[in-house]
Amino acid sequence: MESTRSYLINGDIWRDTGGNIIHAHGGHILFWNGEYYWYGENRTENRYVSVYASKDLMNWEFRRDVLTTASKCMEHRVKTNLSLITEKGKKINIERPKVVYNKKTGKFVMWMHVENGVDYSLAACGIAISDTPDGEFTYLGAFNPFGYMSRDCTLFVDDDDTAYFISASRDNADLHMYRLTDDYLNVDELVKKLWQGEYREAPAVVKREGIYYMFSSYCTGWAPNQCKYATADKIDGFWSTLTKIGDETTYRTQPAFFLTVVNTGNIYYFSDRWNGKDYDDSRYVVLPLRFGDCGKPILDYQETVTIS
Ligand code: GAL
Repeated sequence: MESTRSYLINGDIWRDTGGNIIHAHGGHILFWNGEYYWYGENRTENRYVSVYASKDLMNWEFRRDVLTTASKCMEHRVKTNLSLITEKGKKINIERPKVVYNKKTGKFVMWMHVENGVDYSLAACGIAISDTPDGEFTYLGAFNPFGYMSRDCTLFVDDDDTAYFISASRDNADLHMYRLTDDYLNVDELVKKLWQGEYREAPAVVKREGIYYMFSSYCTGWAPNQCKYATADKIDGFWSTLTKIGDETTYRTQPAFFLTVVNTGNIYYFSDRWNGKDYDDSRYVVLPLRFGDCGKPILDYQETVTIS
């Protein structure tokens, strides 16, 4: 039964409308046709990525495990590794899935971080597509963009529908920004190497009043650290140096993504409060992002949140 939840408790166990724990870690929300779709990592059993849907952003209905070990695979023009299980029949590792809609092709396109299930040496990005936001996604495989390492990642679609994939490269030392092809199914050009040697991870981008903001964490595995942000007037233009935001552990969180609510324009910082010892017990913290003078972002902690 649909509950009439009016607030969520940050760091608590969040349940879907069926009463089950929401597994959508390192995720992303897509608004499409009047509904919000929350995609994220689900590492239980044979699952990789699950999607939940909501109209009110507070009550989330489980829709489907959109990517599992049994998902269909399809050869794509990029030379990719198409396997969703290892040679030994074990799971691979899929992190930080992000889904966007491509208006030209009418496809829902997922980009993600793919590892071999044993360690982080593959450092690849992966792609999957679907005809509907909550359909079964077809896996198009994993590859190293222009041969580069690619780990923590995000996707950002600009107002002109140009999409950018941003991921940690050179053993996480640099953040690379790639402009995607029109169909969002390949990298077209490496447009930026950001904050070289600063080891930024967990990138998340939001645009407000013509300014791009990118939040990122430092590289300390599951342990939280100080989030920093930078701004730019053009996404592939000059990005400022990094400025601290939040407290020294960013309230024990790591960025997942930003949500801009369609009608209100309110912006929320969605983050993970990881449990490195028991990954499946990782929690969510969602905080409103406020803006001060000259568009300076402010991230304060609050125990509960009403997403509106
Ligand atoms: C974090 C990263 C997570 C996951 C984790 C593994 O730094 O943001 O997505 O890869 O490391 O230790």
